[in-house]
Amino acid sequence: TAPELLRNFSIIAHIDHGKSTLADRMLQATGVVQPRDMRAQYLDRMDIERERGITIKSQAVRMPWAVEGPDGAVVHALNMIDTPGHVDFSYEVNRSLAACEGAVLLVDAAQGIQAQTLANLYMAIEGDLTIIPVLNKIDLPAAEPERHAEEIASLIGCEPEEVLKVSGKTGLGVPELLDRIVEAVPPPVGDPSAPARAMIFDSVYDTYRGVVTYVRVVDGALKPRERIEMLSTGAVHDLLEIGVISPEPKPSGGLGAGEVGYLITGVKDVRQSKVGDTVTSAAAPATEPLAGYQDPKPMVFSGLFPVDGSDFPALRDALDRLKLNDAALTYEPETSVALGFGFRCGYLGLLHLEIIRERLEREFNLDIISTAPSVVYEVTMEDRSTHTVTNPSEFPEGKVSSVSEPVVRATILTPSEFVGTVMELCQSRRGAMQGMDYLSETRVEMHYILPLAEIVFDFFDALKSRTRGYASLDYEMDGAQDANLVKVDILLNGEKVDAFSAIVHRDGAYSYGVMMTKRLKDLIPRQQFEVPVQAAIGTRVIARETIRALRKDMLAKCYGGDITRKRKLLEKQKEGKKRMKAIGRVDVPQEAFIAALGAD
Ligand code: GTP
Repeated sequence: TAPELLRNFSIIAHIDHGKSTLADRMLQATGVVQPRDMRAQYLDRMDIERERGITIKSQAVRMPWAVEGPDGAVVHALNMIDTPGHVDFSYEVNRSLAACEGAVLLVDAAQGIQAQTLANLYMAIEGDLTIIPVLNKIDLPAAEPERHAEEIASLIGCEPEEVLKVSGKTGLGVPELLDRIVEAVPPPVGDPSAPARAMIFDSVYDTYRGVVTYVRVVDGALKPRERIEMLSTGAVHDLLEIGVISPEPKPSGGLGAGEVGYLITGVKDVRQSKVGDTVTSAAAPATEPLAGYQDPKPMVFSGLFPVDGSDFPALRDALDRLKLNDAALTYEPETSVALGFGFRCGYLGLLHLEIIRERLEREFNLDIISTAPSVVYEVTMEDRSTHTVTNPSEFPEGKVSSVSEPVVRATILTPSEFVGTVMELCQSRRGAMQGMDYLSETRVEMHYILPLAEIVFDFFDALKSRTRGYASLDYEMDGAQDANLVKVDILLNGEKVDAFSAIVHRDGAYSYGVMMTKRLKDLIPRQQFEVPVQAAIGTRVIARETIRALRKDMLAKCYGGDITRKRKLLEKQKEGKKRMKAIGRVDVPQEAFIAALGAD
């Protein structure tokens, strides 16, 4: 297709504002998906995406759309590049936007602008994209399209009348939106006769086909069966298949300048087809790579352990498989006294952690337990040595001079009546206010610097429940800050239980210690002797509970009773023994640890 007939665009929206539903209507309106093949959220292929209603991986789909010109109808090719809405995955939004010239800014007509609308909009503006403002869900009785159109118009500097109004549910306004995309989004510019350069914006592992790489060709063209080169590594591969997704992969005679599509080379590992890399022809290679992306860095770490120790090799295989598709996931083996063999894993954020956990359980049938999430701390000792700590149990012993923790720059959008509540919440999470802007009389944008550690637990839930669901949150990493942080250890009969060590602010150390010792006291069965459960900072004990000694013989109560009952009890005990973990002299069923980690 000639570049002037191409339009590459993304839909950017706050989570739940209806991006996937609108994409479905576009697939139908352009005839790419026939009515009988239609299913909701057509592009969200992974089951877990469909069930949770969120989009994880970017997808690119090509749709024909005819527009009347002076000499009759002209068919254009629209490439829609889907983007995920959740903050954890904003790096994927970024790279999708780099493949486009335009962005549809989609806003729920009942909710108005939200924090991620803004975050994504700023990214699109930074990328110099043409913005098409659209209000969605205008079929809703609670929709206030006029009010929100004004808000959007004043935000991006257009007239309120220019804001399109659509319903992804009924399909109303969708043809007009497609027309507007053709009219307003500039066609791609690139040099069709220059050496080929294509940017990789996603690569996905497929069990049957190996790695499927999504590219946007910038200059030149790529042809089937030629040899291609990855510019960063110089690795050369045979191009086995090249084509477009519409809505299933369709092999084609090649991809020209400005086109978006997929490549298959037979490589088995996504790391050989790195997102952000430039693909060129091996026969006539380009010399300059295209501007790439930064690798996503894991921000949150936690231990993953199989509930049944014999599942350890299966867990390793499963993580290897997930990693094929998810460059942001990291893991290395970890051994815990309480939980046995497992892995220390790094994630982009809490949602990423939950998704990995759920996929391990659902797709790989593994029963796993994860330890409390931790961020990355930089610890400086008095002897000037520094340590990077992602696992509280590895916090260095000795004299600490300072500890720094990652902080985020957070934007919270809330109705003005909740400003006080939000301030209270942020203060209790060690937030520092940076300023406040009124978007309108009733809506306020608040800026905070907050420790990432305070956000990763339940900040989002707390924010939602205190504002009856009206506030929204977006954040980006903003370096690190020193804080008064200490490691609290939990001791059972004087022995450290590694899985329960935590790095917390000194002000919160006591309450963490009290909570954990109480919880373990209730969960750990009595032993033949008295067992102290203590919380300590270094050698200083800050909280203590006692598990009293067991007096009665368990079988005594069965004495004289029926023998099968006695046998059952013995068998039960034997089964329990298998999973006993010995902490020093104390035998603890693994279930007790799991329960203690799982409780809120
Ligand atoms: P993420 O992929 O998680 O970012 O969400 P999304 O923005 O793709 O939202 P999705 O399309 O999943 O829609 C969110 C919810 O809004 C779903 O329950 C949809 O049924 C509903 N919805 C979407 N569009 C419309 C609309 O035009 N009208 C009405 N009434 N509901 C809509």
